[in-house]
Amino acid sequence: AAIVEHTFHVGNLTVERLGQRQVITAVNGQFPGPKVEARNGDTLLVRVVNNSPYNITIHWHGVLQRLSAWADGPAMVTQCPILPAGSGASYTYRFNVTGQEGTLWWHAHVSFLRATVYGALLIRPRPGVPYPFGPAPHAEHTLLLGEWWNASATLVDVERQAFLTGGQPANSVALTINGMPGLSHAHKEMHHLRVARGNTYLLRLVNAALNYQLFFKVAAHNFTVVAVDACYTDPYHTDVIVIAPGQTVDALMHAGAAPGRRYYVAAQVYQSIANATYSATARALLLYDDAEDAKIIMSPRMPALNDSATAQRFYGSLTGLLRDGKPTVPQRVDTRMVVTYGLAIAPCLPAQTLCNRTRGSLAASMNNVSFQLPATMSLLEASRSRSGGVYTRDFPDRPPVMFDFTNAAAVNRNMSLMVTSKGTRVKALRYNETVEVVLQNTAVLGTENHPLHLHGFNFYVLAQGTGNYYQIHKKKNLVNPQQRNTIAVPAGGWAVIRFTADNPGVWLMHCHLEAHLPFGLAMAFDVQDGPTPDAMLPPPPNDYPPC
Ligand code: C2O
Repeated sequence: AAIVEHTFHVGNLTVERLGQRQVITAVNGQFPGPKVEARNGDTLLVRVVNNSPYNITIHWHGVLQRLSAWADGPAMVTQCPILPAGSGASYTYRFNVTGQEGTLWWHAHVSFLRATVYGALLIRPRPGVPYPFGPAPHAEHTLLLGEWWNASATLVDVERQAFLTGGQPANSVALTINGMPGLSHAHKEMHHLRVARGNTYLLRLVNAALNYQLFFKVAAHNFTVVAVDACYTDPYHTDVIVIAPGQTVDALMHAGAAPGRRYYVAAQVYQSIANATYSATARALLLYDDAEDAKIIMSPRMPALNDSATAQRFYGSLTGLLRDGKPTVPQRVDTRMVVTYGLAIAPCLPAQTLCNRTRGSLAASMNNVSFQLPATMSLLEASRSRSGGVYTRDFPDRPPVMFDFTNAAAVNRNMSLMVTSKGTRVKALRYNETVEVVLQNTAVLGTENHPLHLHGFNFYVLAQGTGNYYQIHKKKNLVNPQQRNTIAVPAGGWAVIRFTADNPGVWLMHCHLEAHLPFGLAMAFDVQDGPTPDAMLPPPPNDYPPC
């Protein structure tokens, strides 16, 4: 195993897209940021130096952070931020990627900065170890799907505005593939993928968009999905990939399309809510070595904006690859939870000067708790130093009442229940406890497909569907379920996930639609140390940022 070292200088970068120059926050003057490449078993040391005007933290999305919770990155959950330029502040994230292979990514985890502060984190098998799928790819292409804003205000101001008004932050003006919208016919600002005819490529897809689930296609090409969220899957053949913010997909693509043409690669918004109007598409160009200047360019036929059937077919078809034929799902469950989640109404906070005082502000909650980040100390630090007053360990195991969560009329009758309380409430777990969580979407202000991300663990997806889980008896897959770190729970539906709490620390679970995190669509698990030193979180590193 090797040590992989990087230094990330976070600072301002001027970028021009769609005819406008924007000052964005970026790492090492690159947008998207630098690619971090490692092998299973390596140790990563990433020193983050903050030269930007904002508080910064970096999260290693999908890294299990075994016994290294201090390096996870969400602001005020596992650390206080690295202070802005002038403070000379830095922090070295130190963790290993043992037992993990596939495509992950890193992103800022404070305010809305992940809009432009993100990059790929690729973990390859140990030297000499082949992939557990075939054919072996000749080469690979990493495609980071994102968004672009023409807002003259900085993204941080966009967020502040949203907070003050209790409304939605500004929509992006374009989607991007590797930072490029690919809209212009002159093919400027378009990412190019070069392939040699007859070869097979491993596409590593990351949805780094703030707020949009995406359909991904390449004209005249099919895919074989081999991993999601850096967890191997049984090979799944498809012509469309569905990917929610936070999710990753590894897929093989054979370069065997008709000669004499060029092919568009497209990422288009998938909207699960009714009456959605944002329908952006980003494009890249697939170029064969023998047809780089071909006149004809083929476009993929994209699904309809609200094609939930295609999304559900994709997500419902994936199964986990059993490495030695034996199921790895924990069969015994210690703790069962039902967690409702969705948008909600919350009373205005004093700082929300533009909030409608009688109607309240738009919020979101899990089990009717709208999650608030602490202000004085990170949850992890508070947990480890046994400091009181920072959070309470009473996150409810169930919603206050069971009713028809997916029926808007029923929700309206129970509206008083959907007016949330704000709080910093976490669920305490013993070391090695197995936890099964039913995630149930609610229909407050309409249903919407929310990608829920769990830090610190991969979980098994045992079943998923639409409607109310407690009224449905659907068989759980306890043999070969897909594993993930982010699940796009169906709109107006549910999913059952299971994981073993074998990693001490405080681990956030939240909606990866960025607008919903400050609304409070989050909770956290506080996992205690185990009995032996190899099950205990060591003390924080010396350069751990103070508050
Ligand atoms: Cu990718 Cu808590 O985030």
